[in-house]
Amino acid sequence: MKGTLCLLMLLPLFTPHPTLADDLLPPGPFTESECINCHNELDPELIRQWREGPHAGTSGSGCSGCHGDRHTGSAGTAREDQVCTGCHEGPASHSYATSKHGIITRLAKRRQDWQQPLQRGNYRSPGCSYCHLHDRDHGDTMASSQGPEVRHWICSGCHSPRYVREQFASGKRQLDIADLKLSEGETLISSTIEPEPDMLLSLRQDLIRHRQNVLLGVGHQSPDYQWWHGQPALDGDLIRIRDAIYTLNRTENNARNATSIEKD
Ligand code: HEC
Ligand code: HEC
Ligand code: HEC
Ligand code: HEC
Ligand code: HEC
Repeated sequence: MKGTLCLLMLLPLFTPHPTLADDLLPPGPFTESECINCHNELDPELIRQWREGPHAGTSGSGCSGCHGDRHTGSAGTAREDQVCTGCHEGPASHSYATSKHGIITRLAKRRQDWQQPLQRGNYRSPGCSYCHLHDRDHGDTMASSQGPEVRHWICSGCHSPRYVREQFASGKRQLDIADLKLSEGETLISSTIEPEPDMLLSLRQDLIRHRQNVLLGVGHQSPDYQWWHGQPALDGDLIRIRDAIYTLNRTENNARNATSIEKD
């Protein structure tokens, strides 16, 4: 009797989440507003996170973008990388795919049990949702506004705290350098005559895109991506901006000389 009592007292510790089996839930399909309204009753905090996170709003993803429009397997489906990469093809996915995390997750794909909640120690290597929707956070767990502590806590579930601090410090240095290049380029561009020619506008867009690539290379721990699409690309932008401004100034000087010769 005593033994059973002890077991019963321990039981809550081993029950992961108070979720119900899929077949006990109303099956669906549901509309977006049905998902939101019913879940707002069940768990207003989850809906608040989603509303304030990047996926609410008309251009984002409703609930069904990640979960599908039924309850069958809806949590497990949403944890898989392919759900995220379906919408985030391009730099975000590419930078992750070239990282060790991306490679290991891809290799372990068939052995990975996506029914596991996204909690510390449940995965060998982090997939997109492990980092960005960690522990059922429906905002963005990796957003810089969350502060470095949250990120540190998640990374150090698998790496030593010291290693993680070193990665953060070198990542910050990379971003600081990228920001210096970005502002140098912007200063050069804004010092030219108004209105800005199309060529400079597109060079400014390149700068912003390549600065984002540095952020992704750093955030996704992909030195390869950083190398091919980050800092060296920014260096190239600065050279092209200087060239463009030099050519513009020369053409303008020529034009000015031509008019002054005409006047003479
Ligand atoms: C960007 C993708 C994404 C969107 C959008 C999204 N979810 Fe989720 N959701 C997830 C992931 C991933 C998990 C698994 C979280 C975990 O294991 O910690 C999850 C888990 C859940 C859970 C289970 C929570 C628990 O206690 O284990 C519920 C309920 C849920 N989502 C409801 C919703 C509703 C309702 C919406 C729309 C308002 C929504 N989700 C939008 C990805 C998403
Ligand atoms: C009529 C109410 C209702 C509607 C509508 C509804 N749900 Fe649920 N849902 C529930 C209940 C009840 C649970 C179980 C309690 C919980 O996990 O919060 C649940 C659980 C879930 C879970 C967790 C499942 C798991 O295995 O842990 C997800 C994910 C989820 N719902 C997503 C959705 C999505 C996406 C929609 C819209 C397509 C939706 N729900 C519509 C009531 C509803
Ligand atoms: C149905 C399409 C869709 C799905 C599925 C989806 N997303 Fe998104 N996501 C978007 C859109 C649209 C935005 C807002 C526009 C943007 O910034 O790209 C966004 C924004 C984001 C942002 C913030 C980007 C920023 O610039 O601030 C992150 C991080 C993100 N998603 C991660 C994920 C992860 C992780 C998953 C998988 C669990 C996922 N998304 C699934 C469409 C989607
Ligand atoms: C190891 C954790 C980790 C994994 C795995 C991961 N990300 Fe990220 N992601 C980050 C960090 C950290 C950042 C940088 C956020 C910042 O500093 O603003 C980031 C940035 C992003 C951004 C840009 C956000 C912004 O503010 O501009 C998007 C979009 C994104 N990730 C989507 C994804 C997708 C899609 C996947 C899977 C294909 C993925 N991430 C996998 C940690 C991760
Ligand atoms: C779920 C476990 C897990 C999480 C969470 C995790 N990692 Fe990793 N990480 C791994 C594994 C496994 C490897 C590959 C083996 C190794 O090199 O240690 C790895 C590799 C790395 C590498 C080596 C990359 C290379 O090319 O050599 C870096 C750097 C790294 N992780 C940083 C981070 C940072 C920063 C975070 C948090 C944003 C993080 N990791 C989150 C499991 C994890």
